[in-house]
Amino acid sequence: MRNVISIADLTNEEIEEIFSLADAADKLRNDRPASGQIMATLFYEPSTRTRLSFESAMQRLGGSVISCSDMRASSTAKGETIADTAKVVSSYADVLVVRHHWDGAVQAMAEHSGVPVINAGDGSHEHPTQTLCDLYTLRQEKGALKGLTVVVCGDLKNGRTIHSLVYALARFGANVVTLAANGMELPQYVIERLEREYDYAFAPVTSDDLSAAVTATDALYLAPKQPHQLALFTQVDEVIQARINSYASGLRYDAFYMTRKQKERMKNGANEGRYPTIGSEFLQEKRFQNTVVMHPLPRVDELSPEVDRDYRGIYFKQAAYGVPVRMALLKFLFDRRQEKRPEAKKSTAAYESPEAVGPQCRNSNCVTLKEPLSTCKRFEIYSIGQIGSLILGCVYCDHRFQVRFVGNVKTKRFYSYDNTLAETIREWLKTGELAIFDSLKQAEELGYEPYKSGSQRALMDEADIKRALTEISQQILHDCRDPDRLVILGVRTVGSHLAQRIAAEIETKRGRKPELGEIELYGSGDAIRRLPPADPDAAPLNLKDREVILVDDVIYTGRTVKNALSIIFRTGRPQSVRLAVLIDRGHREVPVKPNYAGKNIPSSEKDRVRVKLRGVDKEESDQVVIYSIITPNEKAKAPARANDLEAGK
Ligand code: CP
Repeated sequence: MRNVISIADLTNEEIEEIFSLADAADKLRNDRPASGQIMATLFYEPSTRTRLSFESAMQRLGGSVISCSDMRASSTAKGETIADTAKVVSSYADVLVVRHHWDGAVQAMAEHSGVPVINAGDGSHEHPTQTLCDLYTLRQEKGALKGLTVVVCGDLKNGRTIHSLVYALARFGANVVTLAANGMELPQYVIERLEREYDYAFAPVTSDDLSAAVTATDALYLAPKQPHQLALFTQVDEVIQARINSYASGLRYDAFYMTRKQKERMKNGANEGRYPTIGSEFLQEKRFQNTVVMHPLPRVDELSPEVDRDYRGIYFKQAAYGVPVRMALLKFLFDRRQEKRPEAKKSTAAYESPEAVGPQCRNSNCVTLKEPLSTCKRFEIYSIGQIGSLILGCVYCDHRFQVRFVGNVKTKRFYSYDNTLAETIREWLKTGELAIFDSLKQAEELGYEPYKSGSQRALMDEADIKRALTEISQQILHDCRDPDRLVILGVRTVGSHLAQRIAAEIETKRGRKPELGEIELYGSGDAIRRLPPADPDAAPLNLKDREVILVDDVIYTGRTVKNALSIIFRTGRPQSVRLAVLIDRGHREVPVKPNYAGKNIPSSEKDRVRVKLRGVDKEESDQVVIYSIITPNEKAKAPARANDLEAGK
């Protein structure tokens, strides 16, 4: 039985097959291949196009439709779970078409349905059938998808149509330019997937080239196999800037894909910052005479009605294609009812907690948090060791997060994750012994005890750390061109605390606090945000043209810094980024050199350097310690000494 939850559930060849069926929609209408079949539409969120075009498509195929006009008038209002709803309705129909406001809800329903389920949009996650319509429209207008350059504009963070579309464009070899409204950039998990699965890379480009058409701030150019060079630099100088600009020069823009601000998904109401718009200026630009304008609709005020009357405004055609494309998809799925989709060969491993309590997805809108009863806690493991981190991805909503604590179910010991454990973790995963915890408390509550590590040596005490931070702050002020344009950005968690102290030092010296934020590499919310206590009404941190100081506690391989830089440059091109670390371990795999280091401590991979700060993890005083890692296997041979440290403390 085939479901279509993500655009990844269809191969390129299958998408082409669906398009060929859509080309022959008149024949399908005559043949009535769905005669006697019933489609149920379950829309927990409003819809005009998706719902009505699916219903029209089913009727044109000779089938019939059952529906609930308003899901609030269904037994959902009495507390029925989505799992039970899927089980029941799938016994009344041959296919379910579901839209839901939770990310991953349609996947959860598919796991409980006896018939194929089609995702008509789940939260901010995906909208694969809209993407089929978008690709079909582009193909009709431009002939082929490979090599096209599509500018996606607006709310790229919450717009589910965008997420499915950029994956599909990447698969068909198109280039993507992203033009996000400030604070609504493409989420990190989407970018990671583009990089990992589709071998795409980002390069920020100047938006000057687009400014006549779209009033926006910065653009990013996404293309296959471009070197991801920018992330290797901590300072944007003129040479790098010229290289960045060259990515965009000569670009031919084939389509602008505009989206509305998804106000309904914004926690604190809509962000009132500038939003890109398309209007008469666009129509007057000669360069865009062959650039079509698309929009999944509904539009609000980001797309002027003037464009409706222009030959390039093709969004109503795009909406009309919804019927033949969805007729084709339904026919495609009915033909494959008995077929089990061959499992795609995955480069990732699956993880399900062997303990009753396990890690939780960090996306607050994920179905696993909203309705745990209808889901199982399944994750994919994206990286063990390769980037110095252990990353879990939620199978429902695709969000990723970093693991801090791991344990072994047999020995009931836990450890704070470190790269030196990568091999051991791989073994535990194979034997089903790997337990992953969200916190030290969770491990302890499940009866786990800490592993031991080698004896520690103090490297810096409280006074050393204070002195180092004072010096770093002085150097920052000395080097910066305009202190009013400084932004101190800490890498969460210890880096954020150090960033606060550096900002406080600068405030003492200048009488004015610099803007302060933190960057979270594997979180599910905003990757860059203001540090509390920030004014709740303050606009998102804007890094464009700012002098950014990135702060972290320890630099070792340089991969964390590389990832942080990559996020910074995507969210708004700063004038410069300089790096401040308390400890430079001098063993870099990535050529990133800190501009300011509190102390240089060459150390081997087996050594673990920890910066312990007052107020973080219940430390009573600031100190930096070094100790060697005793892996769980080594420990079995040689028990740890009595004065050994407890892990994670
Ligand atoms: N494009 C789209 O999904 O429109 P509806 O919300 O009207 O279904």
